[in-house]
Amino acid sequence: MRINVTVNPLTRIEGHLKMEAVVDNGTVVEARSGATMYRGFEQILRGREPLDAVQLAQRFCGVCPSAHAVASSQCLDNAYGIMPPDNGRILRNLVQGSNYIQSHVLHFYHLVALDFVKGPDVPPFIPRYEADYRLSDKASAAVVDHYLQALQMRVKAHEMSAVFSGKMPHSASVVAGGSTSAPEIDKITAFLARLSELRAFIDNVYLDDIVTIAKAYPDYAETGAGCGNLLSYGTFDLDNTRDVTKRRRFYGMGRYQAGRVEALDPAKITEDVAHSWYASPSHLEPSLGETLPDARKDTGYSWIKAPRYDNTVYEVGPLARTMILLTNEPDSAQAKKVTEALTLLGLKKHHLFSVLGRHLARAIETKFLADAMVDWVLQLKPGEPSCADLPMPESADGFGLWDGPRGALGHWISIRNNVIDRYQVIAPTTWNSSPRDDQGIPGPVEQALVGARVPDPNNPFAIARIVRSFDPCLACSVHVVTPKGRLLHKVTAV
Ligand code: NI
Repeated sequence: MRINVTVNPLTRIEGHLKMEAVVDNGTVVEARSGATMYRGFEQILRGREPLDAVQLAQRFCGVCPSAHAVASSQCLDNAYGIMPPDNGRILRNLVQGSNYIQSHVLHFYHLVALDFVKGPDVPPFIPRYEADYRLSDKASAAVVDHYLQALQMRVKAHEMSAVFSGKMPHSASVVAGGSTSAPEIDKITAFLARLSELRAFIDNVYLDDIVTIAKAYPDYAETGAGCGNLLSYGTFDLDNTRDVTKRRRFYGMGRYQAGRVEALDPAKITEDVAHSWYASPSHLEPSLGETLPDARKDTGYSWIKAPRYDNTVYEVGPLARTMILLTNEPDSAQAKKVTEALTLLGLKKHHLFSVLGRHLARAIETKFLADAMVDWVLQLKPGEPSCADLPMPESADGFGLWDGPRGALGHWISIRNNVIDRYQVIAPTTWNSSPRDDQGIPGPVEQALVGARVPDPNNPFAIARIVRSFDPCLACSVHVVTPKGRLLHKVTAV
């Protein structure tokens, strides 16, 4: 018997997402991922002063503003033909790295853990879907304790960002050319003290909790595989090479396909809108992208466009960065740690393509990034400049390609007569939660849901577990209610 199951809105994610699944005899055979809000920042940015883009673009999202700050400032660097000095490069990495830690801890403890761990019967732990909770009462109580501890850890991570950003969220210091922050000794000390507390939490609490849950839910290493193609722009610059495809990054740029890592050519990225509520032409490169909303388009079911690389569907995020690292640098400490964790859990490399695989990749990445940040902060040179001079030509074009916590993030700008003529953004969740493309091929999350067991259509927690493993951030992905407050879409909370 075929039943339509709708989860709308899907909670404990960033933003508004509607998931629809066709369930046949208890198994998902087809799924649709729909973003139910329109963003419209592309129009807001037109006609603005180019340097304002970094501040405005961060307002896409209060959860991952640092990624937009860096991608937007790199977009302007690229347009102006400049690179930040070492201090500026490192300060951006530190602001972004602090936000990675905050975001990954948030995702695991405050968005996902309750999919697997039964909280106490008080808000915010109720109301909830009653899932198949498998941890003992003692183990559950420990994770709930860590849930509360993790709130404090996120404060520390935000404070780390603020040390070099002025404030958080929405950095005031990341700018075209580098950073306006001066790396003074007291800031370095304040940053390191908080980082040390976070590293202890990641090593002794976060990683252990992931293993506890992975051991109790081994079937989720076989659930939610997705499209199998992975893409990362790479992230955290380690040198100042102008060409981003040749720049050395802590996580390298590339595409993982059929067991191999291939080069990435930014010119092969396009966005389809056959099933998105846009009247603009389909299959445009982002540098030529247009954003003309059409809420009444019959074939549309999402405000997200469908980005594709060479007409192929790609998943982005921690799993992509991890598989590229495992393939290119199998002897690195992080790759060895992933392999060690898989062995401990009795899993193979292919199991990384799963709900548990994404959580594991995210947690291990948090550890190695936090460890690396100790070295980075000590590379800062007090007294030396943090920002390059800006030539600011009247007209220029540029792009910034960067990986935020949730994956590949691209910003594209055209400047004409000293103002922004065109601005386009493809956020990580635009890739992962994309609807069908012009060829009718479903997006990564839609593909990951096919095959999921949903025995009780009134309790679709399996769908929620799969979707949340991608850590969707809808606020970033959708292209705001009209200024007059006209109702664009009505949602029912479950
Ligand atoms: Ni976001």
